[in-house]
Amino acid sequence: LARGSAERDLAGRHVVISAGGTREPLDPVRYLGNRSSGKQGYALARTAVARGARVTLIEANTGLPDPAGADVVRVGTAVQLREAVLKAAGDADAVVMAAAVADFRPESYAAGKIKKKDGEEPAPLTLVRNPDILAEISADRARPGQLVVGFAAETDDVLANGRLKLRRKGCDLLVVNEVGERKTFGSEENEAVVLGADGSETPVPYGPKEALADTVWDLVGERFGQTGA
Ligand code: CTP
Ligand code: CA
Repeated sequence: LARGSAERDLAGRHVVISAGGTREPLDPVRYLGNRSSGKQGYALARTAVARGARVTLIEANTGLPDPAGADVVRVGTAVQLREAVLKAAGDADAVVMAAAVADFRPESYAAGKIKKKDGEEPAPLTLVRNPDILAEISADRARPGQLVVGFAAETDDVLANGRLKLRRKGCDLLVVNEVGERKTFGSEENEAVVLGADGSETPVPYGPKEALADTVWDLVGERFGQTGA
């Protein structure tokens, strides 16, 4: 399996991982959310701990138990996730954005529960853009040589979409999943291609999320060597 998993090849490194999915509140009882389980991010955290890294796991709404040996920060919304990632990234060697970040949030939050009224149509829901955390940390690295990794679930022309997204975000590596039955959401297994800004393409066969996580750390570890960071 992945060559690095038995070594402590990430010893002395600080890695920051975001996991789960943000929730954007509408009122005290409702939110806009997504189906991310957080399992891939937690697998990244467990494997990084096993390989000797200091791990900060920023989790949004997973309900999963804390992985042993990781510092866990809990957030709810995309804006909170951005704050936590920027803070933790300050001294990080690598940042991996495995969280599903809501692209939009409701423009306003109702402090009281939104009630329906007899014979009235619902008010339209106005959304505003959330910050793009991955693009921001990629464009403005907290330290020289810091590695930034994104995740993308795509349909249709998965690789072409992935290449475009890698360039648009400005990250070093983009893990591209094809969304489909059995795959990605809530499942224990995953299949992906990891695209590198250097043109590399690393297919990861269908298998446990730990195996994909170890491949990500292999690729990150190689790149630490190259930048001399
Ligand atoms: N991401 C982020 N901040 C956002 C949206 C996404 O940091 N506001 C990160 C995700 O954590 C992921 C990567 O960007 O690592 C790709 O997410 P994706 O939703 O595929 O990218 P988008 O640019 O939002 O593209 P799309 O319009 O296809 O959703
Ligand atoms: Ca998105």
